Amino acid sequence: MDFFTFRNGVLHCEERSAAELAGAYGTPVYVYSQRTLCDHFDRFRAALAELDPLICFSIKSCQNVQICRLLRERGSGFDVVSGGELHRALLAGADPQRIVFAGVGKTEQELTEALDAGVGLLNIESESELDVLEALARDKGAQPNAALRVNPDVDPHTHEYTTTGKKQTKFGVDLDRAADVFRRHGPDAAVNLRGVHIHLGSPVYDVSAYAEALDRCLELITTLRSEGFAIDTIDVGGGFGAHYDGSESPPLTAYADVIVPRLRDAGLRVIFEPGRTIAANAGILLTRVLHVKKSGGRRFVIVDASMNELVRPALYGAYHFIWPVTAAGHEPQTRVADQPFKDLVPYDVVGPVCESGDFLAKQRALPPVQRGDLLAVFSAGAYAMVMASQYNSRPRPPEVLVDGATDRLIRRRETYEDLVAAEELSGT
Ligand code: LLP
Repeated sequence: MDFFTFRNGVLHCEERSAAELAGAYGTPVYVYSQRTLCDHFDRFRAALAELDPLICFSIKSCQNVQICRLLRERGSGFDVVSGGELHRALLAGADPQRIVFAGVGKTEQELTEALDAGVGLLNIESESELDVLEALARDKGAQPNAALRVNPDVDPHTHEYTTTGKKQTKFGVDLDRAADVFRRHGPDAAVNLRGVHIHLGSPVYDVSAYAEALDRCLELITTLRSEGFAIDTIDVGGGFGAHYDGSESPPLTAYADVIVPRLRDAGLRVIFEPGRTIAANAGILLTRVLHVKKSGGRRFVIVDASMNELVRPALYGAYHFIWPVTAAGHEPQTRVADQPFKDLVPYDVVGPVCESGDFLAKQRALPPVQRGDLLAVFSAGAYAMVMASQYNSRPRPPEVLVDGATDRLIRRRETYEDLVAAEELSGT
């Protein structure tokens, strides 16, 4: 699953001791495993190899340019949703033709940047956006390739906030109006509307949602083709699962089993936009215990990481496995909360931020913890640093990439100067 393992009672990232990394870089710190990133990318590619797809790593899940560069060297393209993400993809050396650009509210500036960069596929989310792109493309004499993001109205059975392919969400164009968008746009327009894009939600553990959505898209494509539209691309989006407690995600082969037979002979170029399935378990967040206290009958472990560094528990009630980095005699057997030890203590693991929603875990059974101990928060490679904020004027932590026995800083810790760098201080 990944290369974070306990050896002789100490957590290691590949060959590096997490305790030593925390000593060298301070806490909180995000630590990524290069081997895990590469392994997950390779596994994804292998599972879907029959389709010879373009795999566009979803930058929003883990955006560090060094990590993007690593995945680009491995063969990845990129899924971006903003001018800023496009900038990162280009900095990582991406071939613009291997970039897909989605997003429900692209500005004219962002569309212009996409045209200037020559991105391979613009995923259009509304008729209004298509009109704007059409006008911009005519002005520039550009002929961008585009796909229409359709909303297939399939329930992916995931958190409400990350459900995107169901009616009444803001994403894409309703499936039953999609054919009309193609008809109205016409075949001779500047924008070459040649594909269909979906993204159902994240994470989607129910593989049948892909089956249902693809069947609906293929029906649409058959209709469009019968009317003379040359549809040659399908972008299946992301949403592929990752293990948080070690048991919830179907294997990639289970996704492939429903996707490959449907697309094998469809005469379509296939694109995927995986994020979480590659990055989530390629990173951990190391945090030090500042204080332990009892209050209102509960035991609180107050750590130096917070909802700023990992907002998922506060925002989605998400589960992240947490365990002491040095755990001699208590090496966890799995990543479920229930570990087979008798002397565990239920703690609320909370941060220093001034919100009661600032917690990483509630009533979590851990070995007895004391001030100065180091804890690892697992599955923090995706949607962790990318969603980090500076709330309470807390500088964001560094990111470290481990490769075998070597480690390197890929983003430095922010300073107090960084906190105010964009503010106009000259008038004060
Ligand atoms: N493509 C599109 C158009 C997307 O909107 C997303 C994610 C992806 C691909 C990548 O999805 P993935 O393979 O990573 O599931 N912050 C939430 C997740 C939000 C996902 C947003 N869109 C979380 O922490 O769970």
